[in-house]
Amino acid sequence: MEKVRQSLLDFWSQHARDLPWRRTTEPYRIWVSEIMLQQTQVATVRVRYEEFLERFPDVFQLAQASVDQVCEQWAGMGYYSRAKNMHAAACRIVDEYDGQLPSDTKLLRALPGVGRYTAGAVASIAHGLPVPAVDANAERVLSRLFAIDDPPGAARSNRLWSLAAQLVAQGNAATLNQALMDIGAGLCRTQSPLCAQCPLLSACTAASEGRPTAYPTRKQKAQRRQLAVAMLWITRENGDVLIEQRTASGMWAGQWQLPSEESDNADDALARLVERLGCVAEHCDVHVRHLLTHREVVAQLYRAVDYFHENGERTQWVSMPRSAPVNALSRKAIALMLA
Ligand code: ADE
Ligand code: SF4
Repeated sequence: MEKVRQSLLDFWSQHARDLPWRRTTEPYRIWVSEIMLQQTQVATVRVRYEEFLERFPDVFQLAQASVDQVCEQWAGMGYYSRAKNMHAAACRIVDEYDGQLPSDTKLLRALPGVGRYTAGAVASIAHGLPVPAVDANAERVLSRLFAIDDPPGAARSNRLWSLAAQLVAQGNAATLNQALMDIGAGLCRTQSPLCAQCPLLSACTAASEGRPTAYPTRKQKAQRRQLAVAMLWITRENGDVLIEQRTASGMWAGQWQLPSEESDNADDALARLVERLGCVAEHCDVHVRHLLTHREVVAQLYRAVDYFHENGERTQWVSMPRSAPVNALSRKAIALMLA
């Protein structure tokens, strides 16, 4: 942690971006910048921030304005609930705190529009308190730095926040919080992080594992149980292909298919197929994946050797297998076998 801290401080002293809200620690101005930055890009905020502060230079003037006037000044930045919340918060700051933004994160969070992140940012950047402020970019950096592989959710966020709390506990929280955010925004990119240029490289677990983008772990896809299908490609001299009809009950009832058996286990499916058809099955290099709502079907194709055909109602030879009335899985398999 000490090494990380030092690297962040060094990085900041050399590479801190020069942004208007970094030239002040006035709580009102820091608060305004952080609300704007929640959902608006830095390039836009740069301009709109100065204009907003000219129109509403302090919390009293913001509170005295009407909500409509505040929204008008907000025009073009979207998410107008931010403007409405700011106005409501300004009124409370004037009424309850004599116009001084509180420094206590609990009191800050009680203000409209101020969540855990904004409270931490105002408390650390404006008031110099040793508290964390972790935005989405900083979350990505921390999760890679410490190879946190918890699934997304409140538990992971809490872990990342407590790592950040340890990081800033001894001071310099404003710098450390913002350096993490800047590294997340510029270097530790979601898709292709620039680890070679990153000041945290030597401390970063994800980079040392050689897989920075494995973190933060993404939401798990719905787990589908696998269903193994063994499928037989049976042809006769004139090129006809054999299809069969499934029984009238059970899965895929009554559908036509390439002769198949299914099981939770591929070996078992093959054994049952060979047993039922009474032939030898020669593995071919074709398999088919097919997603059902709750299952992932993986069908492996085999060529029949020494197959002896007995006519039956549930089988037929087809001369144009591509247009045979088979189900989706067999249709994919036929297309691949004829490819
Ligand atoms: N994003 C929002 N607030 C920020 C800040 N103070 N520094 C860097 N990125 C930010
Ligand atoms: Fe992100 Fe790479 Fe830096 Fe680690 S070394 S924090 S993965 S940019």
